[in-house]
Amino acid sequence: MEHLKRTLLLAAPRGFCAGVDRAIQIVERALEKYGAPVYVRHEIVHNRFVVESLERKGAVFVDELSDVPKDVPVIFSAHGVAKSVPQEAENRRMFYIDATCPLVSKVHREAERHEKDNLEVILIGHRGHPEVIGTMGQLHEGEITLIETTEEAAAFTPKQKDKGLAYLTQTTLSVDETKDIVDILKARFPEIQSPKKEDICYATTNRQAAVKVLAQKCDGLLVIGAPNSSNSMRLVEVGQKSGCSTVALVQRATDIPWNSLRDCKTVGITAGASAPETLVEEVVAAFDKRYDIEVKEIVTQKEQVVFKMPRVLEG
Ligand code: F3S
Repeated sequence: MEHLKRTLLLAAPRGFCAGVDRAIQIVERALEKYGAPVYVRHEIVHNRFVVESLERKGAVFVDELSDVPKDVPVIFSAHGVAKSVPQEAENRRMFYIDATCPLVSKVHREAERHEKDNLEVILIGHRGHPEVIGTMGQLHEGEITLIETTEEAAAFTPKQKDKGLAYLTQTTLSVDETKDIVDILKARFPEIQSPKKEDICYATTNRQAAVKVLAQKCDGLLVIGAPNSSNSMRLVEVGQKSGCSTVALVQRATDIPWNSLRDCKTVGITAGASAPETLVEEVVAAFDKRYDIEVKEIVTQKEQVVFKMPRVLEG
């Protein structure tokens, strides 16, 4: 193969957010402190390389608490859980550690506050995503209405006319699409209460803003992440909407679509909030094998967010 030149532009910020970093550290510290096995309910974060590396250290991933044997610690994933989950753990006298991202917990508290204030709650999010299941499960079944699209926002009818309304959102949505949905709701229900501070988290917002800048500068864009990772899929969509002709989600270097990228002289690379930096390095190394590469980082924002460990694992 001819040794052609390629410029790789790396988005910054990309990859791990503070919530993912904390959730992984919780599993690692629990393994150190209590020894293997430590059980984890659901993928701790949506990335199978992370999951597999924790499995090698002694973590066991299960779907439900009923799959956890007696007397072993169990960790809840970063996406958050419905209230019924810690309740079940307490009923069964299990020792659990909650790795829910503090920014998801903030949305949970908002749902509770709205219920206390007698407001009807709308959640903007994707049906079936674990975070949405967890947030819906903060109130009784049927109390929160899920809205996924602008069409659903236009068709929404409040359950009780005498109640006020409030909306919450999933933390990993597309900033632009969510705005379209919120605009429709606000036009139809001017009194609707918004979150005091955006529910779409800083990491989602910053990674999408970085992709918008990157997409203007490259002919091809690779998003490293998993198909079940909401924030990674949103990065693909943002890249496509920002006018980049070739955008692909890759889980690792073996997925790189070399044929579609054949004519792309400048390739942008970013990674979803649950994708480890080693996968970015692997993708860059794969380009290095085929091409004469120049790598530049496009910094749009510096991030310094760090979340505290749960008290039981501190120190
Ligand atoms: Fe938390 Fe946002 Fe990451 S909600 S887990 S900081 S993508």
